Amino acid sequence: MEIYLAPMEGLTGYIVRNAFFHHFHGIDKYFTPFISYSEKMNKKTIRDLLPANNEGIALIPQLMSNKAEEILYMADMLFDYGYTEVNINLGCPSGTVSSKKRGSGLLAYPDELDRFLSELYEKADFPVSVKTRIGYDTDELWPQILSIYKKYPISELIVHPRIRSDFYKGTPRMEAFDLAVRELSYGGTALCYNGDIWTLSDYQALISRYPGLSRFMLGRGLLANPVLSEQIKSFPTNEGVPSSANSSEYCSSSLKERFLSFHNEIFDGYMSIFSGERDVVMHMKEIWFYLGRSLADSQKHVKRIQKSQNATEYRLAVKKLFDELDLRI
Ligand SMILES: Cc1cc2nc3c(=O)[nH]c(=O)nc-3n(C[C@H](O)[C@H](O)[C@H](O)COP(=O)(O)O)c2cc1C
Repeated sequence: MEIYLAPMEGLTGYIVRNAFFHHFHGIDKYFTPFISYSEKMNKKTIRDLLPANNEGIALIPQLMSNKAEEILYMADMLFDYGYTEVNINLGCPSGTVSSKKRGSGLLAYPDELDRFLSELYEKADFPVSVKTRIGYDTDELWPQILSIYKKYPISELIVHPRIRSDFYKGTPRMEAFDLAVRELSYGGTALCYNGDIWTLSDYQALISRYPGLSRFMLGRGLLANPVLSEQIKSFPTNEGVPSSANSSEYCSSSLKERFLSFHNEIFDGYMSIFSGERDVVMHMKEIWFYLGRSLADSQKHVKRIQKSQNATEYRLAVKKLFDELDLRI
């Protein structure tokens, strides 16, 4: 069974990926936040991709375009950095992206999607995976979209079963994922589930619904509980054995200390790349939007963190939180 850390723009850049890699176990693959086409990669993108900044991490660059030649051009640049495969974003719900028929926007135009994939897979001589939603403003086209995906040698299809207009609201549309499992299970396309795995019981519900499924991508759930990948991997699989060593084996220091070290690595990393403390604090607040969920009764403390204006106030609020609260995972 494999666990992937989802690409999340503004949240899962190399600093956060490294913090996961150094302090928690069980994540098999990481994906960069999407990289839009441009003739030259900007400094921020290069820094995020540099092998020296991703040592030991199995990283797949995610690309955003609706033109095969742009993907091939970007992939060529990525080969120079040692990457050998790419992932295509067909799920981004943002208005500026989707209005240009990119991300989830292309799902509203099945003929154009088909043409894009046909040109891409005809020329790509390297693995190309796809991360997709199940539609734009309706899920009625999902069977058609799936039949298009089935035509191409997609190295892995990662499905987030929401349509664009759901954004992240409501619950994932599991009937749409049922269809993907039915349609793809005999065709050889590797299928990965993504969406709303917040707890071990969310994962358990998925494996009892899909006993053959073995790939799971987690985003917000891992940011809320970074040890979730270990909990999942310690849980017996359908074959009855844990899919990797029990997480307690990894715990030479207490879990709370590991959370603190994870946090500190992100904070120090942000201090080293952002020019001002305000930027650092702002980015840390985005992490706390999720991480606060791991600590019992954390609302008051997280509020204090969210109100902090500079690094000194921020550090004090975080210290108080870790001194006073217990983990609830
Ligand atoms: C702030 C934020 C940024 C995201 N950025 C990306 C991105 O760059 N590429 C992508 O494919 N998905 C992106 N996503 C979607 C996630 O990868 C994932 O599909 C989504 O959060 C659902 O999974 P989860 O419930 O496990 O979080 C983003 C989601 C959020 C909340």
